[in-house]
Amino acid sequence: MINRIAVIGAGIMGNGIAQVIGTAGIHVNLYDIDQASLNKAFSTIEKNLDLMTQKSILDIEAKSTILKRISGTTNLKECVSQCDMIIEVVSEILDLKQTLYKQIENIVKDDVIIASNTSAIPLTELTQQAKIPERFIITHFMNPATLVPLVEIITQDVTDVDVIDRTMQFIKRIGKSPIRLKKEIPGAVVNRLQAALLREAFHLVEQDVVSLQDIDQIIKDGPGFRWAFIGPMQMVDLGGLDTWKRIIDHLSPVLEDSKTCSSLVQQLVENGRLGTKAGKGIFDYDDNLLERIIFERDRDFIELLKLRNPVDNKAHTLEA
Ligand SMILES: NC(=O)c1ccc[n+]([C@@H]2O[C@H](COP(=O)([O-])OP(=O)(O)OC[C@H]3O[C@@H](n4cnc5c(N)ncnc54)[C@H](O)[C@@H]3O)[C@@H](O)[C@H]2O)c1
Repeated sequence: MINRIAVIGAGIMGNGIAQVIGTAGIHVNLYDIDQASLNKAFSTIEKNLDLMTQKSILDIEAKSTILKRISGTTNLKECVSQCDMIIEVVSEILDLKQTLYKQIENIVKDDVIIASNTSAIPLTELTQQAKIPERFIITHFMNPATLVPLVEIITQDVTDVDVIDRTMQFIKRIGKSPIRLKKEIPGAVVNRLQAALLREAFHLVEQDVVSLQDIDQIIKDGPGFRWAFIGPMQMVDLGGLDTWKRIIDHLSPVLEDSKTCSSLVQQLVENGRLGTKAGKGIFDYDDNLLERIIFERDRDFIELLKLRNPVDNKAHTLEA
């Protein structure tokens, strides 16, 4: 049984994952090299819990209990040595992750599980220099980890069966929906599907077919509206396979198939338009607007969760 977890990296994803684990009644040590990131993580967690109580998916008295289960530290040894599972959520830099694994492999329990939240680095590459590659696995949470149900699970040939079984059980226990891929593939499934859609979307904007704003509206009002309840495979069944075969045969020859990211994105990056973290990306943001967008996103995702699971929509199981 997994009873104590370490989350390494308290950024956007790390603080959300720590919150989910604490909410499920499990003790979690949240570690970051940077004290300021840890402080920010705890204020984000408090804000998220407040919203959940306001929206009645969390009992009001649960907030302080959950916060007590999450301890913050900048001491790596203290953080990981007694833990059954370590979830690595540091920045997406291979060297950084591998250096961290070298530091922790010598100070963890023999039966530890080391999970990475990497978006795109294959497990075989992550564990190239690992002493215990069989104890590693990828658990890919999506942003915001507090609310999106899916966690992609990626293994490799050497992954210990015990690591896979216990990870699958653990992800279900914290209220998430784990999907294990049958084999490792760059980008896994979520990011391959999203990258395919984005490649076509940017291409259509470059071809002056549609504006950037309208791409968002088209997805929100069309496919996105359906996809929360009807997946694309069921959508094809409902539309008719013969019809979809004709559509795909017509379109496949003309779909964008470039091997690099669109020049539109390259230009935005070169001009420092990196997204909300820079105050400007495809659109412009100030702090107030960003706060409002995140608040409204989380508020609406909570309503979606309630709709998808109307009987038991509480965000926690409060086991301990
Ligand atoms: N942001 C997303 O939407 C998203 C979604 C899914 C997966 N991911 C993946 O999750 C991981 C983290 O992404 P993020 O968006 O939370 O990044 P982030 O930049 O918000 O946070 C990274 C944190 O790691 C800390 N850190 C850096 N080096 C460290 C070290 N050696 N030890 C401890 N802490 C260290 C930083 O101080 C920072 O707080 C990445 O692998 C990323 O690809 C991100």
